[in-house]
Amino acid sequence: MALDALVRLDKVSKVFPGGIVALDAVDLDIISGEFITLLGPSGCGKTTSLRVIAGFESPSSGKVLLDGRDITALRPFDRPVNTVFQDYALFPHMNVAENVGFGLSLRKLSGSEQAKRVREALDMVGLADKLGARVSELSGGQRQRVALARAIVCEPRVLLLDEPLSALDAHLREQMQVELKRLQSRLGTTFVMVTHDQTEALSISDRIVVMNKGRVEQIAPPATLYDRPATTFVASFIGTMNLLKSSFIGRDGDRLRFAAGGLSLEATSETGDMPAEGAERTIGVRPEDLLATTDAAAGTAPARVNSIVFHGRTLRLHAELGQGLPVVIDAPRQSEGFQFSVGDVAHISLRRGANCPMLPS
Ligand SMILES: Nc1ncnc2c1ncn2[C@@H]1O[C@H](COP(=O)(O)OP(=O)(O)OP(=O)(O)O)[C@@H](O)[C@H]1O
Ligand SMILES: [Mg+2]
Repeated sequence: MALDALVRLDKVSKVFPGGIVALDAVDLDIISGEFITLLGPSGCGKTTSLRVIAGFESPSSGKVLLDGRDITALRPFDRPVNTVFQDYALFPHMNVAENVGFGLSLRKLSGSEQAKRVREALDMVGLADKLGARVSELSGGQRQRVALARAIVCEPRVLLLDEPLSALDAHLREQMQVELKRLQSRLGTTFVMVTHDQTEALSISDRIVVMNKGRVEQIAPPATLYDRPATTFVASFIGTMNLLKSSFIGRDGDRLRFAAGGLSLEATSETGDMPAEGAERTIGVRPEDLLATTDAAAGTAPARVNSIVFHGRTLRLHAELGQGLPVVIDAPRQSEGFQFSVGDVAHISLRRGANCPMLPS
């Protein structure tokens, strides 16, 4: 585990009445100053993890540490942690400044010091001109910013954000992602965000924790998760990945050669697992790492095109290799029209230099 962990979950489990295991021995180190995102499908334990860090939920077993100190028994208010909730939880009867100042009013600060900090926090989120506005007069994006200002005004060491952007439309959401990241770098505060949107997680995070059924599947920076997923779950959850049952042919230095439905593949072993000749493994292949041509050049494998989906710059081919093996290929659109139609045979090969992970079966 990292030495410089600000927050550490040490074998944290949470079992709810009725035996629902929300968290199953979760180990997690959150590094000071990072933007870390918990990503996973509905019910995998993301919110429960945040609530355990905030102190709203106590673990059934395991410990929560802050700066190496056991804070498992500490009440939420005594932790240097603030939460931005999905529904913002603003007070409708208070104006913007009163909402932001609410957390401060519980501390012993002079009126002028409070007013100054409220102004600074609203300035940070670009709402300095909305001090006296009523919450009901604000747009969704502005309410989100008020909720952020209210959370940062208390200068927490850790800011927890549970699906903070999910109520916003796609365009505003993308804009707020950029703003959130910028705010986090300016403040230098540790942000722990929850999302089930992999694109959001990939674009905003320093590191991503992929969760599945109360367990941590992999913790890594976005590019590592994308290029070197450790499990088939991560491979299929992050972007699109062909999971091809392949048989091992032999090795070329550290490149392992496989075949799947007539297609030749090269893979790397992250775990050091060395298959025996003829052994089956699952090889992860990104659609953009497969090339489709009309001519049957050497080293290509024929695949029947079953459907073609328009994706803007590329077309996504759903095709079938030998032995009925389904495969998805992203082919660039040609300016003078695309050369494949449904029912055609495309000749598929692996792009030279493509990095395909060998996944545990
Ligand atoms: N208070 C509770 N009592 C009983 N079961 C709960 C409680 N809170 C959560 N759970 C269960 O624990 C599991 C994890 O829930 P959690 O809210 O952490 O999921 P999540 O990853 O945040 O999902 P979502 O993306 O839908 O918000 C789920 O099966 C959920 O039904
Ligand atoms: Mg949740």
